[in-house]
Amino acid sequence: MRLNNMNSIERSTRRKFIKAGGIVIASSIATTAGNLLGKEEEKKDNEVSPPEDLMREHGVLKRILLVYGEALRRMEANEDLPLEPIAQSAKIIRDFVEDYHEKLEENFLFPRFKKANRLTDLVDVLLQQHQGGRRLTDITTQFATNQALKNPDDRRKLADSMRQFIRMYNPHEAREDTVLFPAFRGIVSAHEFDSLGEDFEKKEDELFGDDGFEKMVDKVAQIEKKLGIYDLAQFTPKV
Ligand SMILES: [Fe+2]
Ligand SMILES: [Fe+2]
Repeated sequence: MRLNNMNSIERSTRRKFIKAGGIVIASSIATTAGNLLGKEEEKKDNEVSPPEDLMREHGVLKRILLVYGEALRRMEANEDLPLEPIAQSAKIIRDFVEDYHEKLEENFLFPRFKKANRLTDLVDVLLQQHQGGRRLTDITTQFATNQALKNPDDRRKLADSMRQFIRMYNPHEAREDTVLFPAFRGIVSAHEFDSLGEDFEKKEDELFGDDGFEKMVDKVAQIEKKLGIYDLAQFTPKV
C-alpha cells in the first residue's frame, strides 16, 4: 500500500516532471521560433522595397540638383564659389546615380517594362536622358576646376552643363517617382518584387559597403554645409 502510494506519488511527480519538461521544451521551441520570427520581422522592417530604394536615391540626386543650383546662383551673382564641392557632387552623380541607381533602372526595371509592353515610350525617353546626363556629367567634371572658372568660355560651359542637368533631372525623377515606379509593382510577381529589393541592397553593399546610402547622404550634407545650404530652417518662409 505504501509502495503503491509511493509509486503513485512517483508516477505523479514523474508526470509533472515530464509535463514541466515538455513545457520547457515546448516553450524553448516557441522561443526559438519566436526569435526567428522576430528576426524575420525585423529583417522585413529593415527591408526597403525596390521603389522606396530608388525614390530615396532620387532624394540624393535632388540634393545635388540643389547644390548645382546654389553654384549657379553664386556664379551669376559673382559670389565666391569653391569648386571642390561641385567636383565632389559630380563624382557622387557619376558613382551613385549614374553607375548605380540608373544601372538598377536600366538592368532591372526598363527591360521588364519593355517585356510587359508597358510605358515603353516613357522608358525610351528615360534611357536617352540617362545617356544625356552622363555626357553632361563629363562636362561638369571637366570644368569644375579653379582654372576653368577663370576662363569665361569654360565658366559658361560649366554653368550650361549644370543648368541642363537640373532642367532634365527635375522632370526625369519626378516622372519616375509618380508614373514608372508606382506601375512597377503591377508588372512583377510579389516574390520577384521582394527578391529584387534584396538584389538592390546586395548591389549597394557591394559597391559602397555597409550603410552605403547613409554614407552618401552624409557626403552630400558635408557639401551642403560648405555651400551654406545645409540648414533647412533658412528656407522656411517668413510670413
Ligand atoms: Fe532614371
Ligand atoms: Fe531614377
